[in-house]
Amino acid sequence: MEVKEINNRYSQLAESDCCLSCGGAINYAEPLIGEVCVDLGSGRGTDVIRMAESVGETGFVYGIDVSDGMLAKAKHNAAKFNITNVSFVKSELEKLELPDNTADLVISNCTINHASDKQAAWNEIYRILKNNGRFVISDIYSTSPVPEEYKNDPVAIAECWAGSVTRIEYLLQLEKAGFSTVNIIEESAPYEKGKINVASWTIAATKSSGNCGCNN
Ligand SMILES: C[S@@+](CC[C@H](N)C(=O)[O-])C[C@H]1O[C@@H](n2cnc3c(N)ncnc32)[C@H](O)[C@@H]1O
Repeated sequence: MEVKEINNRYSQLAESDCCLSCGGAINYAEPLIGEVCVDLGSGRGTDVIRMAESVGETGFVYGIDVSDGMLAKAKHNAAKFNITNVSFVKSELEKLELPDNTADLVISNCTINHASDKQAAWNEIYRILKNNGRFVISDIYSTSPVPEEYKNDPVAIAECWAGSVTRIEYLLQLEKAGFSTVNIIEESAPYEKGKINVASWTIAATKSSGNCGCNN
């Protein structure tokens, strides 16, 4: 999906009450006092604020999003709760505006499927994690390849399934990025979404100091 379209679509949703999530990554992430955490596709900032409270004043949380409306709403929400150990950064998943080896923990909820280049997004997650840092990510995958005709279809994009990849492709991308062992925390049965079948899952992996990250 084009960044401009994402910005428009999600900026409109920033002030609505509709649920944007497809999983519960935050419930499994267990951020610790003093950790540096990153939420990719931080939306209205809810998970960033929760993590900021968990990591305490010695920790820090970055919220990453491309939508101006979402970033503005997230900043407003953090200020409302007087949360200061956070920063909301406008950045694309494929080119994160964060230095190498920044994060102890990366989370994301229902966002990776939006990346136009998912391999680049996973490579970036690997790059910004510290050695032994971990991710806990909720997302969807498709049960069969999304037909070409839907990949740029505005309705399919709006319904958040146009960019999904199959389970096998998903796991291959993770491996290629450097995550050799992936833990599947929860996985739904396939369900209908628009014109295809998808499943939701929450997955986790650690950047092992033994890995070379050769594909980055
Ligand atoms: C489905 S919403 C999920 C928001 C939040 N994680 C939640 O669970 O409430 C997806 C979010 O990811 C952002 N997003 C989509 N594509 C992105 C990209 N390529 N780079 C950065 N952010 C992106 C959108 O602006 C939106 O805020």
